[in-house]
Amino acid sequence: MTRRPLASSGHDPFAGDSIGAARRRLALEFRRGGLDAPELDARIIVGHALGLDHAALAAQSNRTLAAGEAGAIAALSARRLAREPVARLLGRKEFWGLPLKVNAETLLPRPETETVVEAALTAVDCDDRRWRALRIADLGTGSGALLLALLSELPNAFGVGTDISFAALRCARDNAAALGLSGRASFVACDYGRTLRAPVDILVSNPPYVARADIAGLQAEVRDFDPRRALDGGPDGLDGYRAIASHAARLLAPCDLDLYPRGAGASGATIRSCGHRPGPCDAGSAMRAPHSWYEKKHLDCGSRPTRFRPGIDPSE
Ligand SMILES: C[S@@+](CC[C@H](N)C(=O)[O-])C[C@H]1O[C@@H](n2cnc3c(N)ncnc32)[C@H](O)[C@@H]1O
Repeated sequence: MTRRPLASSGHDPFAGDSIGAARRRLALEFRRGGLDAPELDARIIVGHALGLDHAALAAQSNRTLAAGEAGAIAALSARRLAREPVARLLGRKEFWGLPLKVNAETLLPRPETETVVEAALTAVDCDDRRWRALRIADLGTGSGALLLALLSELPNAFGVGTDISFAALRCARDNAAALGLSGRASFVACDYGRTLRAPVDILVSNPPYVARADIAGLQAEVRDFDPRRALDGGPDGLDGYRAIASHAARLLAPCDLDLYPRGAGASGATIRSCGHRPGPCDAGSAMRAPHSWYEKKHLDCGSRPTRFRPGIDPSE
């Protein structure tokens, strides 16, 4: 087989190929390009370009591509070879089993962030509060991943997601609507929890946590395509955690906070209430971990829906 470059100018590299041949050639190019999952990426990209699911792709494997189809595959392939993540090509990413829309201003939700949801639900279940009207805040909500996952599990909970990106907030709002959760979710543009007034029962956050100097060394898929403000945690990576700790102390009042890591090398950190007020050392040790969830312990769950003071409506 003559090898035609995928990103060449002047001709369509997939012209005349069958669907199966295009998929195999794409996988080969992706492998040569050093991508981690070349076959899977090729299958998803060809399927997306053609609007076909896995079964239809297999069934139509011998069909010759139309010119427009070949061009669509070539365009997506060039983007993937430039390291744009597949989820960004699709414009969606699954989190906690929920299909979430993403855009250029939202972090791609990570599977490991689901541990935050698990931890929060474990705490809720410990106290048998799954059916209560819990109040949730997700600071730095991005696509709304954490908040919407929790609302999907807690049928009577209400929540607010904050972010400094209007485009991210619009995306989160659209995701809430698509999941039928709009009635229990609101979104506010503000610096973490700064404009929130109502006390919350559960506070979750996955703030930017990369030390600024380390960003250049990140994988290209992350460095070049996740929004900078979703990554940049300041000089030591802890700016967001410091801000959240200061806001959490007020939002979770009257309890104080106790911050601690789950252990050396752990990928999660927990902030529980009713310990002592966090000092710089506490915060620093907990904040080194990339994912945190924060929970108010001895709380007044009540049955009232949360009324968050309105901030800036992202739809405005
Ligand atoms: C690591 S991303 C997490 C997004 C989402 N929670 C998730 O886990 O997929 C951090 C988010 O914090 C937002 N952010 C950064 N600085 C912020 C600030 N000062 N106040 C509120 N949100 C902020 C970013 O825009 C980004 O959406």
